[in-house]
Amino acid sequence: MKEKLKFYVSRVKSGRLKEMRRQTVWIYQYARRYWGAMVFYTLLGFAGTGFGLFASWVSKNLVDIITGHNSGALVSTFCLMIGMNIGTLIVNQISEYVSAYISMKVDAEIKLDIFEKIMVTDWESLTNYHTGDLLTRWSSDASNISQGVLSFIPNLLIYSFRFVAAFVMVVYHDWTFALFAFMGMPVSLILSKTLMNRMVNNNQRSAAMGAKLSGFNQETFSNIQTIKAFSLIRLYVERLKQLQKEYITMRLDFRKMSIWTSLLLSTVGMAVSYACYGWGIYRVWSGVITYGTMTMFLSLSGTLTGTLNSLTSLVPTAISLTTSAGRLMDIVEMPREDYSLDDQAGEFMEKNRSQGISLAMDHIAYSYHNGNQVFEDASILANPHEIIALVGPSGEGKTTMLRLILALMQPKSGQAYLYGGKTDPGEAGRLPLTPSARRMFSYVPQGNTMFSGTIAENMRNVKPDATDEEIIECLKLACAWDFVEKLPDGINAMIKERGGGFSEGQAQRLSIARALLRKSPLLLLDEATSALDVATERRVLKNIMQDDYPRTCIVTTHRPTVLSACSRVYAIKNKKSTLLNQEEIDELVQSF
Ligand SMILES: Nc1ncnc2c1ncn2[C@@H]1O[C@H](COP(=O)(O)OP(=O)(O)OP(=O)(O)O)[C@@H](O)[C@H]1O
Ligand SMILES: [Mg+2]
Repeated sequence: MKEKLKFYVSRVKSGRLKEMRRQTVWIYQYARRYWGAMVFYTLLGFAGTGFGLFASWVSKNLVDIITGHNSGALVSTFCLMIGMNIGTLIVNQISEYVSAYISMKVDAEIKLDIFEKIMVTDWESLTNYHTGDLLTRWSSDASNISQGVLSFIPNLLIYSFRFVAAFVMVVYHDWTFALFAFMGMPVSLILSKTLMNRMVNNNQRSAAMGAKLSGFNQETFSNIQTIKAFSLIRLYVERLKQLQKEYITMRLDFRKMSIWTSLLLSTVGMAVSYACYGWGIYRVWSGVITYGTMTMFLSLSGTLTGTLNSLTSLVPTAISLTTSAGRLMDIVEMPREDYSLDDQAGEFMEKNRSQGISLAMDHIAYSYHNGNQVFEDASILANPHEIIALVGPSGEGKTTMLRLILALMQPKSGQAYLYGGKTDPGEAGRLPLTPSARRMFSYVPQGNTMFSGTIAENMRNVKPDATDEEIIECLKLACAWDFVEKLPDGINAMIKERGGGFSEGQAQRLSIARALLRKSPLLLLDEATSALDVATERRVLKNIMQDDYPRTCIVTTHRPTVLSACSRVYAIKNKKSTLLNQEEIDELVQSF
């Protein structure tokens, strides 16, 4: 016996049950915020139960009046019964409205909370998840929790209260009936235990499948051009069919299990009802109870088995809640970015705005989470009024360097920091590069990063109070005004999703204009002029530097034409950075 107990304790402490306990604790931190709502919901449930039970008692009296065992006032009892039923109806409707209201509010709050947490999650950890998966977790799993968290505890209390109240009423009138109430219990218990394991599995599989489907759809719709170009429409339709088939088979499996469960529960319920019925007839026949009491027992036996089933059905709810919690915990428990230097970074920026800011990457090493070592020992220096170029073969780490500068990832060793002006004041005057320092940067990444909306809206995304004149000024600097001016709606022309409706080079110039509008001391351009013709590219770079703002600019490029506009050129290669001399730069330009 002791051994067995130990076994169960160890099972609780490790494995699935431990996981469920951790998940329950996590849900509780949300649940406790809404205790007021839950108390209200529970009280409404209690009131509903009270009305229901009182109605059974009144109907018993009514039958007794009719069958002559009781000579109470027929009309008033009848009115009371109708009153009770209307009362139940009203309480139920109010409770439904209130719970819908609260559940919507909680849903929005939990989603907002998770959204914020996802936003400050370490970037590289986050990229391990497909956006479709993230989206499913954020929408379906969060909804699941918000719906369950409010109803679970109140329902547990309401059902338990209803069961106990009905039971007490039965015992009060004839204790022999009470035995029947327990008849169904062992079946329910055994069933819930065996079902639990299968349900946990099924829930996890179902959630993973949902994420896969949503990822597939999202990716297909956003790559429709490629799919058409490769003539893959049939293939993608077939793939969706296959995924749907997998999904349906899995859901049907789940359905079959629920059908068997409810079949078994209903059979037990029916057996209990018939037993009650038989026993009731016998008790009336032998004169122990009245007809009224028998009708009351019959309705109460319905309440008892129904409540027992409802209590059993809380098991799958609990499982689905904890599964969802686990899936959200995977996301929100990933490492967070450190914004603790926000105030310091704000002061630093204001202090150095007029003289500009230098950036130093000092003997940096970095490997991605998958073990891919990109840098062993790389150093870069960039001062105000300079354009620094990073060149090198594709895949050697130029973009990675910019990500390290933006503190999207932390170097494994070496130092990354900023300082005001051109001379390094030493340790004390430096600001380490952390997520807090990002406010000092403008970044034009590789690829298209415009949002859907008008050109002006896209620009104001980075500077909400920008005037039309300021926007036009930046468009001019980025050589984008030439084509924007000709659009019928000018800066109010619509950009489609991911820069749609504009050529690659136009979208690049819009991205540069947006970066310039932000007037950040540091500007990072990742192949940002790669789609421009050489003349326009030169013009853009010249404009950027002629702008008298003390800007520090780092560009990555494959195009040697850019190099003549740069103060220093670093070759990024073999996990290192090498500062090139003029001869090497000339060689690069010539060999192009
Ligand atoms: N998120 C990531 N996880 C793991 N490895 C990555 C990740 N991103 C890039 N890498 C790897 O890091 C190396 C450097 O990539 P990076 O994008 O920095 O190259 P790049 O010099 O910018 O190339 P390109 O000129 O083609 O833009 C590559 O080998 C790439 O496969
Ligand atoms: Mg790159």
